[in-house]
Amino acid sequence: EETGKGGYDHYMRKEIETQHVSLANGIKGRVGPDGREPDLDDFPPGAFEGVERVQFVACGTSFHAAKYGTQLLNKAGVAAQAFRASEYDDAIPVDRETLVVAVTQSGETADTLAALDRATKAGARTVAVTNVMGSSAAREADDALFIRAGPEIGVAATKTFSSQVVSLSLLAHRVSADAADESPWDDPAAFYDALERLPDHVERVLGREDAAGVADDYLGSDAFFFIGRGLAYPVAIEGALKFKEITYEHAEGFAAGELKHGPLALVTPRTPVFTVVTGDDDETTVTNAREAQTRGAPIVAVSPPDHTVTDAADAHLPIPDTHPDIAGLLANVQLQLLSYHTADRLGRAIDKPRNLAKSVTVE
Ligand code: G6P
Repeated sequence: EETGKGGYDHYMRKEIETQHVSLANGIKGRVGPDGREPDLDDFPPGAFEGVERVQFVACGTSFHAAKYGTQLLNKAGVAAQAFRASEYDDAIPVDRETLVVAVTQSGETADTLAALDRATKAGARTVAVTNVMGSSAAREADDALFIRAGPEIGVAATKTFSSQVVSLSLLAHRVSADAADESPWDDPAAFYDALERLPDHVERVLGREDAAGVADDYLGSDAFFFIGRGLAYPVAIEGALKFKEITYEHAEGFAAGELKHGPLALVTPRTPVFTVVTGDDDETTVTNAREAQTRGAPIVAVSPPDHTVTDAADAHLPIPDTHPDIAGLLANVQLQLLSYHTADRLGRAIDKPRNLAKSVTVE
């Protein structure tokens, strides 16, 4: 077992620390020679012609990756929604022009397989985005896109989230090019340039030690809140999920703009607010964070070094400057490290948190 951990104390740590490798695997050979479009073997140009809308079905961390994919499709003018697979019931309209994408690391989650089955029976075209070749989802969907993250042993998903987001970015571009003759980006070359540099950027974040210090500083807090808007929102809710899964502390992720509609009532000097900002257009998120700070909450900025949020922040988890649509993955690595170090300080069973399973095969 020790060899399997490659010298790390936990599988989860190993899986966080080797993310630059899994990401490089997921990108390799999948960007076209001009660096402006995806090159996906099973999905050549035109593969998604006739698709009018996209529905993602997923659970847990995979749902957060699906939220990311949804927003990229929406940016390209494609109607897309993400459903928690357990909520994908008969009331949701689905037809032959609907592409249903099941996002599932294991390919074996019962709720996701049931949603896939429902979509198939309704005549939808289906794609599984999964890490496991030969899994039930890969076999049951019309097509599969493999995220190539390698085996993940830790119950809490880490490297597979970032690999899912990368695969979904490529898929979103292929679908939007075919279905709407559009791209999620005005300048696709800038996105693909950032994608190629992502493994290096991740490695730079992994070499930093700020997350361990922040974990120490806020140990013993009453609750931990995570906020973000746009593409930083899935990162905030994933940050909170990871934190609660492995630390057993109370953690919640909120859309930054929703803080004032309820969660502010929970805010005190003993509830740090981790504020994820990834682009140049997040000034409203900074305003939202300041609203919490006015009520005494410490603000921990998760952002590029010079973002204005750092002026307001009590602490900072920095990420390299990059394309705003990929920066969330760097913020996510900082938050994974924060959860890991907090759980480690608390002596939790990091690789096998109580009451949780890697793959949930009952509905
Ligand atoms: C379980 C795991 C989570 C995972 C979820 C969905 O709850 O503990 O880490 O995100 O299942 O799993 P899947 O294999 O479908 O991505």
